[in-house]
Amino acid sequence: MSVEHEKQLATEAAAELIEDGMTVGLGTGSTVAYLLPALARRALSLRCVATSPRTEEAALMLDLPVEPFGSIDRFDIAIDGADQVAPDGWLVKGGGAAHTREKIVAAASDRFVVIADSSKRVTALRPPVPLELLEFGLAATMRLLHSVSLRNAPRSPDGGAIADYQGAVDDLAGVAALLGAIPGAVEHGLFPPALVADVFVARGDSVEHHNHAKSRA
Ligand code: A5P
Repeated sequence: MSVEHEKQLATEAAAELIEDGMTVGLGTGSTVAYLLPALARRALSLRCVATSPRTEEAALMLDLPVEPFGSIDRFDIAIDGADQVAPDGWLVKGGGAAHTREKIVAAASDRFVVIADSSKRVTALRPPVPLELLEFGLAATMRLLHSVSLRNAPRSPDGGAIADYQGAVDDLAGVAALLGAIPGAVEHGLFPPALVADVFVARGDSVEHHNHAKSRA
């Protein structure tokens, strides 16, 4: 079964959670690309915010109502892909360099839902962990960071440089705290389980659904 088929199945399962009248955060990436037409087909009345210009453009092409992240201060739900999904709900995101906006939207969501094909399911997260770094003082920030290389990628929509942490990630909370404590490191791509409510992972023709919020309750 193809990865594209799995992306579509996971997305369709997650899209069922979206109801009329909801505020919705739209993630970024090739999996989310399946979410947009699935939502457009349902013709619901929604207020959507996109986590990247490419998602915004694709959503607008489908007549989904996208607005700037200004007056909305919380979302009923946000749906996004991931680069790696661990069994306990830890994620690596940012392969597409959108993790800063994605994390802001995830943190503002009552229910942050992850959609993934089976290639994203890992037994333990591994490097690289994407980073976004402020342009101001970039060389000084890089000097404070260890095992980090700048990615040959365009600046983020917010002007940040994209880099990757290549060091060990055995202690995820420790690495997240370390990267989060460096002035100039705007955001890293480790998403803790506390941010994640649901994970839909498709494998072949079936979709596994883990509700991490329920298992925490
Ligand atoms: C964007 O920066 C990323 O966090 C993506 O959400 C993640 O990489 C998943 O992308 P794909 O669905 O394209 O694999």
